Amino acid sequence: MSEKFKAPRGTFDVLPEQQPIRRRIVEVARRWLEAAGYGRMDTPIFEDTDLFARGVGESTDIVQKQMFTFEDQGGRSLTLRPEATASVCRAYLEHGMQTRAQPVKLWTEGPFFRHERPQAGRYRQFTQVNAESIGSDSPLVDAEMILLASDIVAELGVEGVRLRLGSLGTPETRAAYLDELRTYLRSHEGGLSEEVRGRIDANPLRAFDAEHEGTRQVMEDAPTLMDRLDPADAEHFAEVRALLDRNGVSYDIDPTLVRGLDYYTRTLFEFECERLGAQSGIGGGGRYDGLIEQLGGPATPGCGWALGVDRIALALEQEEGAAAAEADEQRDGVFVVAEDSGREQALTLVTELRRTGIPADLDLAGRAHKGQMKQADRVGARYALILGGDGKATLRDMSSGEEREVDPATLVETLSSP
Ligand code: HAM
Repeated sequence: MSEKFKAPRGTFDVLPEQQPIRRRIVEVARRWLEAAGYGRMDTPIFEDTDLFARGVGESTDIVQKQMFTFEDQGGRSLTLRPEATASVCRAYLEHGMQTRAQPVKLWTEGPFFRHERPQAGRYRQFTQVNAESIGSDSPLVDAEMILLASDIVAELGVEGVRLRLGSLGTPETRAAYLDELRTYLRSHEGGLSEEVRGRIDANPLRAFDAEHEGTRQVMEDAPTLMDRLDPADAEHFAEVRALLDRNGVSYDIDPTLVRGLDYYTRTLFEFECERLGAQSGIGGGGRYDGLIEQLGGPATPGCGWALGVDRIALALEQEEGAAAAEADEQRDGVFVVAEDSGREQALTLVTELRRTGIPADLDLAGRAHKGQMKQADRVGARYALILGGDGKATLRDMSSGEEREVDPATLVETLSSP
């Protein structure tokens, strides 16, 4: 017997009943972004592998082990996009957007691919809404970005959301700081857990997350990157914070916030939903002032974020009533109920209704009258149009049960007039 096919590991189908919640997430984001001057742009699903190697960063987990990379028939190495920022920056350069009014604000939405170990909320194909603002280093940009993400998440009704905020400074400050932290950890090695001790070189920041009591004591007095920021970076961060405060966004300063992409400089943030368990990050982003130069362009600052559509959908589905509210697609359209002899007329009527923009449906499975009425209810029709054999028809309001005689020939007018 042949084996049954299943969706590949880490991927899933989105069934019709799962569409409304996802559609709403993208629609609410689109509305906020376009009202704030962001234009939609789409980039290809695959790009030169080097774009991500250079853009996302050779040393990141994404580039080292999570990319879906393949060779095309011309021997070029291509990779399914693991994120959008590198692609959007490539497009900014390719289309000479430096000559447009700055900053250039762009948003996009679609599937992204990372070969991660699948678990609830972590997939190999996932959906992001992504926004970038390229060409200005003003703290107003960082604040605008964070405010938009925060307002989108709030309008969607995601509960238990926390915003973690930090600043990374420049790559130079960061490298000097990591050396200082390693030296500090080595000089307190005796108090550290074995695990943290083993990772001093590879990932000294891990020590801040340790549960181990001795390690926690050592970390209480450890230097933090935010204490080591350049005056200009520190001032930039203070301004971002002041702007968020003015606009009523609350956040937790997290001096140890790290994100899995190399391009970040200065502001860094992550939105977490406490209800989601291990994969609680519903969105995140930050400033990337060196990325465009890294990709071969002129020094150009940028800032952006991505929201995880799948995780936000999971969070909303968990909320009581939210799913029901989503499914509450109000009754709409007409279901034409016909005897066997009236089926051709039913298709003609349905076609006429559809051509005037009225949703319409009919029985395609040879159901008896009762079965057709049931189907009209199941598909959420507002009316059932019951064709009689005598050229007359009855229009039944599916919510109230009210019925009236109508003339099928003037049905469109009947339905169009309130
Ligand atoms: P990221 O933090 O890697 O950032 O991804 C953003 C969001 O996408 C995450 O918070 C999460 O909700 C969702 N996400 C990421 N990986 C997965 C996965 N395997 N399964 C399900 N959801 C996932 C970026 O991608 C940056 N490009 C954001 C950015 C834009 N920074 C500046 N501009």
